[in-house]
Amino acid sequence: MEGEIRIRRMNVNDVESVLAIDEKITGRPHEAQWESKILEHLSSNPLGCLVAEVDGRVVGFVIGTIRGWEFGIPKCGWIEIVGVDPDYRRKGVARALIDALEPFFRMNSVPSVKTMIDWNDGGLVSFFSSLGFKRSEYIILEKPLEEEEKPG
Ligand SMILES: CC(C)(COP(=O)(O)OP(=O)(O)OC[C@H]1O[C@@H](n2cnc3c(N)ncnc32)[C@H](O)[C@@H]1OP(=O)(O)O)[C@@H](O)C(=O)NCCC(=O)NCCS
Repeated sequence: MEGEIRIRRMNVNDVESVLAIDEKITGRPHEAQWESKILEHLSSNPLGCLVAEVDGRVVGFVIGTIRGWEFGIPKCGWIEIVGVDPDYRRKGVARALIDALEPFFRMNSVPSVKTMIDWNDGGLVSFFSSLGFKRSEYIILEKPLEEEEKPG
């Protein structure tokens, strides 16, 4: 990678680039509500939304929040989402993004930072492990909904 990684606050002009990275990661068009979700975060939680630039190009993003009460979990920091352009991986971009959120979490006096990931996604598990994240006491329970029987 040629240039330095620069982390800065996300603004509305970055939304298109963030969605393009998301599409590159998932390989499918972004879900319709994604754009309004990011805009909501930008207005209610501007300090938690960061992007990483290399040579003036947005190559990664992170959204961190402060949440509590839901699920009986005490107030703590959350990494809602992190994503890096596949062409810029393993160069420290995501680590730099999450490190840059630390002042935001400290400013909010939270005792810990949590995130939720797919346990089967080895890359994500390794990434968060390398940053010091460990498996939490909280687990997700799930029950599939049977298909509804149609009358007649
Ligand atoms: C996980 C992800 C954010 C990592 O981004 P990245 O910029 O490549 O990560 P970094 O370069 O900062 O990695 C830091 C360390 O994490 C570990 N790591 C990162 N990606 C890894 C992978 N795919 N496999 C194993 N270890 C990995 C390594 O220890 C790495 O250090 P090293 O390269 O010196 O060995 C990126 O792969 C991504 O965007 N994945 C999809 C994201 C996603 O699904 N988001 C939704 C859930 S929040």
